[in-house]
Amino acid sequence: MEKLNLLRILKKAELEIQNSNSLSDLNIIKSKFIGKKSYLFRIISSLNILSKDNKIIVGKKVNFIKKNIKKLLDKRKKTLSRLEINKKIHTEDIDISLPGCRKGIGTIHPINSIIHRVKKYFFNLGFSIVYGPEIEDEYYNFDALNIPKNHPSRNKKDTFWINEKKLLRTQTSCVQIRILEKTKPPIRIISPGCVYRKDFDKTHSPMFHQIEGIVIDKNVSFSNLKHILFKFFDYFFIEEFKIRMRPSYFPFTKISAEIDILDKNKKWIEVIGCGMIHRKVFKNVQIDNNLYSGFAFGIGIERLTMLFYNIDDLRILFKNNVRFLRQFK
Ligand code: DAH
Repeated sequence: MEKLNLLRILKKAELEIQNSNSLSDLNIIKSKFIGKKSYLFRIISSLNILSKDNKIIVGKKVNFIKKNIKKLLDKRKKTLSRLEINKKIHTEDIDISLPGCRKGIGTIHPINSIIHRVKKYFFNLGFSIVYGPEIEDEYYNFDALNIPKNHPSRNKKDTFWINEKKLLRTQTSCVQIRILEKTKPPIRIISPGCVYRKDFDKTHSPMFHQIEGIVIDKNVSFSNLKHILFKFFDYFFIEEFKIRMRPSYFPFTKISAEIDILDKNKKWIEVIGCGMIHRKVFKNVQIDNNLYSGFAFGIGIERLTMLFYNIDDLRILFKNNVRFLRQFK
């Protein structure tokens, strides 16, 4: 009974394979005879209810039939593929005299180019490059950085809140906490990325870029900070710019400073906030402030870009005006 059935299946499959006219027909035939819903598959699945001897006999026969069907399918597939290619060659025309379509190659956006330039300097000094999330917890963006609960930067007028606890980060300084929480000193990292504030005019955009930097080790001093950042400007600018460092205030550094650059219109432009990491920040990330000291800095990328390329309205950087962008090869 089994034998008859199986041979009949093979014959039937052979006939259908011979008569098939396309690769898609052939796929249907394949699943019909050896696919998961086929008669053969059902026999294979029920083999374990047979006695050991019968199992071997029926198993062999089924395998034989399956193998032969597969062979027939493969052979027919080759023939049909060849036929389909030939048909294509004869029916589809290619007009080789048509002009090609040129794919324009884009240019690197000036912001990315500046980020790259900054990264290169710090990378060569042995800094690692890390990234943090743009949707941030209130804790990382404010609390852990020692920013008081009533600080104006926390209010809805200045910050994009997503809910009670989450916001679009207003500064890359939050990466300090994320990294320090899980890394043991010595630490030397920079972290580039987008930050968000509700500001929009010639010199402010609601989305802009910063690069945060942190160095923590034994005996790190303010003069190390000053040296690294002043050398950075020597490297960064091709033209001569006047630089000044002046005292400032940030809740997460003590002492704090800012670095300004004198632009073409004789106006001082603030480009970096920096300072020695506050002992409260060290406490929040459980690093021993008696053993280690460190400095941090935040570089404003748009400001550097404007100075570097002599741009006076920052909004042009985000307009995607191709004629403007093409200038930056
Ligand atoms: N996060 C500050 C800002 O957005 C910039 C800054 C100041 C970063 C001092 C620092 C720092 O790491 O030490 O204005």
